[in-house]
Amino acid sequence: MIANPDEMSLATAGIAAEHVGADQLFDDVPRAVRASPTLVPASKLTQRSVQTREGRAALIHALAHIELNAVDLALDIVWRFAGMPDDFYRQWVNVAKEEAHHFTLLRDHLRGMGYEYGDFPAHDALWEMAEKTKGDVLTRVALVPRTLETRGLDASPPIKAKLVKAGDLRAGEILDIILRDEIGHVALGNHWYRWLCTARGLEPVATYAELATQYGAPKPRGPFNLSARREAGFTEEELRALES
Ligand SMILES: [Fe+2]
Ligand SMILES: [Fe+2]
Repeated sequence: MIANPDEMSLATAGIAAEHVGADQLFDDVPRAVRASPTLVPASKLTQRSVQTREGRAALIHALAHIELNAVDLALDIVWRFAGMPDDFYRQWVNVAKEEAHHFTLLRDHLRGMGYEYGDFPAHDALWEMAEKTKGDVLTRVALVPRTLETRGLDASPPIKAKLVKAGDLRAGEILDIILRDEIGHVALGNHWYRWLCTARGLEPVATYAELATQYGAPKPRGPFNLSARREAGFTEEELRALES
């Protein structure tokens, strides 16, 4: 509910995850409206060359925006869905804390380049999927952690290579930290997705394919980071389904 990104990431970092439990759910927590960045459709965002300082800053800004959205998403999962084991809530609070750390790393790097979070336009695709999947926890974990965050695993190596080649070694280090943590977030998504499928007597692979179609999940586009996906707990059957 905190609109200011700096205050929000600080407050998130301060949550004591071990004290969070299923009995602390709220009826409704509206997401704060932030004054900036300006939100535009993803197709309207201009691709800039990373050879320029401004282009690199725009890319770091886009990543910082994703991380701030990821804080919102992780906290949203915690308060929105009742009836899960205490571990579920504690683990997603820890995810929110890691996302806040990612945001802070990128924001500080951006500041070092002379820019501020909010200086570039950004898109709202992550939150749109959160809205679409707010009715059911299984759908949420299937399409946010197991789809959108998983795409981040694929996207990370080429983005890192591009920034490092352009001379931004610090961005490369930050992307390594983020990738390591994101594998854990996707692993949690996989864990709870399977847990929910088992509880409801659903077959995970076919159920995922149905949900992806029903909710218009982005089509998987390679190259895939198969080692990271394996580490995050995707099965060989699921990895094969990417190619079909
Ligand atoms: Fe993150
Ligand atoms: Fe994440």
